[in-house]
Amino acid sequence: MTLKHDPSMLLAALRAALGEDCVRAPLADDAPELRDYRRRYQGRALALLLPRDTAQVSTLLRFCFERRIGVVPQGGNTSYNGGATPDGSGTQVLVSLRRMNRIRAVDAANFSLTAEAGCTLQAVQDAAEAAQRFFPLSLGSQQSCQIGGNLATNAGGLNVLRFGMMRELTLGIEAVLPDGSVLDGLTGLRKDNTGYDLKSLLIGSEGTLGIITAATLKLWPAQRSSATALLAIETPAAAIRLLSVLREHVGERLTSFELMPHDAVELVRTQVPEVRMPFTPTPPCLVLCELTSAAIEPLDELLQAALLAPNAQADILDAVLARSEAERMALWQMRESIPEAQRRHGPSFKHDVSVPLDAIPSFMQRVSDWVLQSAPESVLICYGHAGDGNLHCNLSARPGADMATFKARESAVQSFIHDLVMQFRGSISAEHGIGQSKLIELQRRASPVKLALMAQLKAAIDPRGIMNPGKLLPDLSGQ
Ligand code: FAD
Ligand code: MLT
Ligand code: ZN
Repeated sequence: MTLKHDPSMLLAALRAALGEDCVRAPLADDAPELRDYRRRYQGRALALLLPRDTAQVSTLLRFCFERRIGVVPQGGNTSYNGGATPDGSGTQVLVSLRRMNRIRAVDAANFSLTAEAGCTLQAVQDAAEAAQRFFPLSLGSQQSCQIGGNLATNAGGLNVLRFGMMRELTLGIEAVLPDGSVLDGLTGLRKDNTGYDLKSLLIGSEGTLGIITAATLKLWPAQRSSATALLAIETPAAAIRLLSVLREHVGERLTSFELMPHDAVELVRTQVPEVRMPFTPTPPCLVLCELTSAAIEPLDELLQAALLAPNAQADILDAVLARSEAERMALWQMRESIPEAQRRHGPSFKHDVSVPLDAIPSFMQRVSDWVLQSAPESVLICYGHAGDGNLHCNLSARPGADMATFKARESAVQSFIHDLVMQFRGSISAEHGIGQSKLIELQRRASPVKLALMAQLKAAIDPRGIMNPGKLLPDLSGQ
């Protein structure tokens, strides 16, 4: 997209339309909003817009629609795929929702809460807790990521096994469409069959169909009981067997089931030494599992009984049960430090994939064999939300490896992993989305029917192609 108007005249008109304090320009090249979390993308922007309410979002989108200006919505800027970073042209506007951070209502009786898009996930969890309710989305980035970003990416995280992803946690949405019209779909209703489910279309649309300004989210009763265990096991196959045994014994109380192979845990040991390690030496594989319940019930006993079942015992080498909230937090800290350990270690290739549960062991084995043989300068850090089939199949450089060789392998590694995912009928993006880093991969691998339908939906809702150009779908606005 090229600008058809003089930038300084555009900025003056934007200031007149929105107010001086809502328009920041020019932006310093090193402004944090212009760079993605992983520092793989650096953009430029005509301006950073900071609306305070839905009416201002509507005004700014109508302004950009009329002048065909590209718009990049930004939440907490924790995207792993450059989804919230503008391109390098300096012609797009970046819209940060961070000032729209009010909890509009908490309806404890209806088990729902209405939050503006710029509320952090942590703020929403806290507001629910203050009303003796529970909002289950839980991510390592929750102190900075925002509800608008969580909706736009259909975020997943640690509790999907029991509560589902963001789409399943959402009752209603308010969004501004590219032409400035406001879709007021805020509702706390659990049943509403009045046509197409537009909220579901906007969730996961990665800012390409409009700007989400608020949402009504489902709450659950406060979780009063929990039990957490770290299990040492031999193989991922043992983890998948244990998952079945646990589900049979404890039913829907099983909230999290995270898999952490040896090399992922070792990386935490070396890179984040403040984390306490319960097992020395590190076993071949660890599983962190947690039960929760709204009732006051002896979940520790239930968990122990499940782990003592003969078909569980066969697979457990050792186990640690958290005996206090501090011990529970320490176990979670180990799991949640894996991304930070990888970051401290240096550059990495991230693949956020899912495969059917029964395919996890052979998928992991085949990737591991391939890495040993074909990318020997790398170490495989493949861990994640195994309970819902989602693995973060990442590679870091081996200590002392030649970085040029490591980096040169990136596309071969990605091709191998994604080819294998497709063989297992899995997904090349389980929870992080497509953004700009996986755009070509999606075009290569999604069915032509799906891609054509997505392009038609995009053209119908954003006919001028102004919304987040070049993310999720190719930018056709200039054609
Ligand atoms: P941003 O990064 O700002 O934006 C993400 C996308 O959403 C962009 O395409 C942007 O244009 C669009 N967008 C943002 N706000 C809006 C809006 N209001 N309207 C329309 N579009 C919008 N993700 C998981 O799913 N599970 C995890 O377990 C997980 N763990 C993480 C751990 C760490 C340490 C980090 C850094 C990230 C993790 N993530 C995880 C990725 C990331 O936090 C999520 O994708 C999150 O939902 C992004 O929210 P955000 O507010 O930062 O969005
Ligand atoms: C996680 O589950 O830890 C994240 O989604 C993956 C990551 O941060 O790399
Ligand atoms: Zn994850």
